[in-house]
Amino acid sequence: MIIANWKMNGTKQSVATWIESVSNNMNKKNMNPCIFCPPTCYLEYARSLIDENDYHIEIGSQIVNHSFEDESLTGGISSTMLKDLRIEYVLVGHSEQRNFLKESNNVITKKIEKALEDQLSVIYCIGEDIDTKNKNETYLFLSEQLDLLGQLQSTHEDKLSSIIFAYEPIWAIGSGLNAEKDYIEEMHEFIKKYINDDLGWGHLDIYPAVLYGGSVNLDNCEEIISSTDVDGLLIGGASLNSETFSKIYNLS
Ligand code: 13P
Repeated sequence: MIIANWKMNGTKQSVATWIESVSNNMNKKNMNPCIFCPPTCYLEYARSLIDENDYHIEIGSQIVNHSFEDESLTGGISSTMLKDLRIEYVLVGHSEQRNFLKESNNVITKKIEKALEDQLSVIYCIGEDIDTKNKNETYLFLSEQLDLLGQLQSTHEDKLSSIIFAYEPIWAIGSGLNAEKDYIEEMHEFIKKYINDDLGWGHLDIYPAVLYGGSVNLDNCEEIISSTDVDGLLIGGASLNSETFSKIYNLS
């Protein structure tokens, strides 16, 4: 699975150009899902372009909101609306939203629950900051982020297979400094083992994909995607250029 996360970039024109270019340049024999996450205001436009042309690109939303009982939220986007637009995926827990929007664990859990109930696949983003890494506390940090999902086990067990994980060390995002292969392998092994043994998903026969994100580019993508336990890529900056993104997709 290769995901383009455009963050707060693009125009209607660049969305159209990118979709057409990626579709023309992508190797159709590659069965890896190709997922485009444009800004929310372009989701419906992207959906219509992909449908009209029968392109093999799926769509993810960068955002979803939840609402607690009887709460209203000006500016909110619900998973029901995303489902209505036939959006397939949604990113939840991205570090930029955790930091800038002060998203609490409680909010993240509610978003995941509601998105699963609306049949969206959730890409749950986790990853440590540089202080945590330097203090050698990354395992603890990641395990706390993963523990959130423990709450879903009793209520949403039948939907857990719709969760995909993305490991994005915060210090690698947008910095041009991707994590080293050894480090990525160590973290991905830890994440998979924690999900399997500590969350107990192994007993449920659920073995989710774990993607890597953080300064992926054309030069490092082959090494990262070939790393043990890396099942895909979540790409920010390098996904904006359609030719670069198509090349990364074709190399994966
Ligand atoms: P960059 O690829 O720009 O580092 O962004 C990674 C990211 O945050 C994708 O979600």
